[in-house]
Formats: sequence, structure tokens, C-alpha cells
Amino acid sequence: MKRIDDPRAFGRVAVVMGGRSAEREVSLDSGRNVLAALKARGVDAHAIDGIPALLDAVRAGHFARVFNILHGQHGGGEDGVLQGALQSLGIPFTGSGVLGSALSMDKVRSKYVWMALGLPTPKFVPLTRGADAARVHAAAREIGFPLIVKPACEGSSVGVSRVFDEKDLDEAVALARRYPGDLLMETLIEGNELTVSILGREALPSIHIVPKGAYYDYNAKYLAGDTQYLCPGLQGDAESELRALAMRAFDALGCSGWGRVDVMRDRQGRNWLLEANTAPGMTSHSLVPKAAAAMGIEYKELCWRVLETSFEGDAA
Ligand SMILES: Nc1ncnc2c1ncn2[C@@H]1O[C@H](COP(=O)(O)OP(=O)(O)O)[C@@H](O)[C@H]1O
Ligand SMILES: [Mg+2]
Repeated sequence: MKRIDDPRAFGRVAVVMGGRSAEREVSLDSGRNVLAALKARGVDAHAIDGIPALLDAVRAGHFARVFNILHGQHGGGEDGVLQGALQSLGIPFTGSGVLGSALSMDKVRSKYVWMALGLPTPKFVPLTRGADAARVHAAAREIGFPLIVKPACEGSSVGVSRVFDEKDLDEAVALARRYPGDLLMETLIEGNELTVSILGREALPSIHIVPKGAYYDYNAKYLAGDTQYLCPGLQGDAESELRALAMRAFDALGCSGWGRVDVMRDRQGRNWLLEANTAPGMTSHSLVPKAAAAMGIEYKELCWRVLETSFEGDAA
């Protein structure tokens, strides 16, 4: 991986944040932190809100590269659309390219790829957003309770429900349908929640997330102070195996640069891949900064290293 020691080598950097997705507020929070960190390290970094403003500025020749901290799809900037636009303009950017971004945004198709390679992911049934009640209930019987219903293409746990009983199924599906795109239903894995951050070609120490409530919801992720984070999440061979699995899962989706892979570990110690994130949160509560800190990489250094990955991208 290319290492940079002079901040001028990055040129003028756009930190693109905000946008129009459901995760706008989280992205703004991440973006402000990244911007401050890069500036503190002497990088000529500037905030830009959303894709249209970014593309105008890039076409006007204002920026040499982009730190992408948009989250989500449909103007969210994490789904490949922004990556394609920047690539076509020859502007390097942080994180995955078109394919890795688009595949990771779609949980159903991510699972198809993992399954084809024999990587473990919970049993699931994809549902179109128009699926009728009969189809929904048949899918639930196929999966069995307890199960999880979630939008196929959202993040930050929005629209995700745990369903223990058929009587709660319709409400869970209605909630997931509030978000654009298709849905998926999958086996609820009871056990521990872990996440593995990827930086460059390396998997960082895993984090075991121990929420106060039933699971890691939006509130626990961004607001509550009572979630516990254990890092590394596992010890010895179990930790090495988890990191290796996360790296394989990330590579399988064509991801690069940096990101995070979410995993559930069941009571038998089996790991199950949930999803990959190609522009994960960088707020004060976020997980990648915690994993980096466990390696002795403080926040400003982390932002610098992520920016360095822009030299690896297809447009670089
Ligand atoms: N199959 C599952 N079994 C148990 N918990 C799950 C499962 N799928 C999702 N969850 C819970 O829901 C949260 C959000 O799901 P995830 O698939 O990571 O989507 P996103 O983070 O994009 O909203 C997870 O962090 C986990 O707490
Ligand atoms: Mg997740």
C-alpha cells in the first residue's frame, strides 16, 4: 500500500458527506470528524454536501481526490453510483470501486456471492417489496422463527426487526417496506454480534458489541452510551479465523480500500456473515475508529490512512 508523508501529495481533497439517504445525519457527523482530522494533519480538505455539488466542483477542477464518507444508497454515495461518476472523471477516491460498492449495498446479492464460495451467511428468503401476505407468511415458515426482516439495501439498522412470533410478522414487513427497494427475511442468529474493520489489505482486531437492549439498533449505534465494546472481540485462533473470514468476505464482493464486515457468532461458535459496509461510520461512537485505536492507530492517523487508500483505486 502506498504511504504518503507530505499532506500536499494529496492535493485538494473533497470530503463528501450528507447527501440524500436515510443515513444523512450519521454521514454529516462522520464527515465533520473526518474533515477536522485531515485538516489537523495539514491536508487541504474541504466539506462538500452530496453528490451533485461534488460533481460540479470536481468538473470545475476544484479537487484532486475525494474522501467519500457518504452512507447509504440513492444519493447516499455508498452504492457505486458516485464511484462510477468519479471514475469516469478520472478522480481518485477512498474506498471500494463500482462493483464492491454496489454489491455490498445489496444484502441479498452479497449473500449469493458468499454462498457460491461456501462462506457462511444466515439462511434467507429474498422478498420483492410488492410480495403479498401469502408469500410473506410462506417465506417465514420456510425460515422458521425467530427471524429477522430487513430492507435489502439500507444501513444503520433502519427498518430491521426481530420477529419471534407470526403475529408480529406483518408489522415487521410494513416497517421494512417504508424504505426503498426489496426486503429480505433471514434466520435470527442468537449469540454474539461482532464486526471486523478492514484497512488496506489488513483486517483490524474484531469488536464484540454488547448492547444494553435486545440488539444493536439505531439508538444503541448512535445515541446510547451504554453499549459495551470489547476489542479484540475474540482470542487466539477464534479471532484469527474471524478476521480471515471477514477479509475473504470483503474480497469476494470486490471491495477494497477500507470497510467493515458485520458478523453474528452463534452459541456453537460458528460465524455468520451479515453484510459488508464500504463507507462505514466515522463518528465518535463508530466501530472502525475503535478497532484502529486497539492497533495504536489514533483517529487522525486512521483518516490519513484511509485517504492513502485513494491511491489504490481504479481511478488512481
Ligand atoms: N440474521 C441476524 N441474526 C441476528 N441479528 C441480526 C441478523 N441480521 C441483522 N441483525 C441485527 O440487526 C443489525 C443490523 O443488521 P445488518 O444486517 O448489519 O444491517 P444494517 O447495519 O445495514 O442495518 C445487526 O447489527 C444485528 O444486531
Ligand atoms: Mg450492519
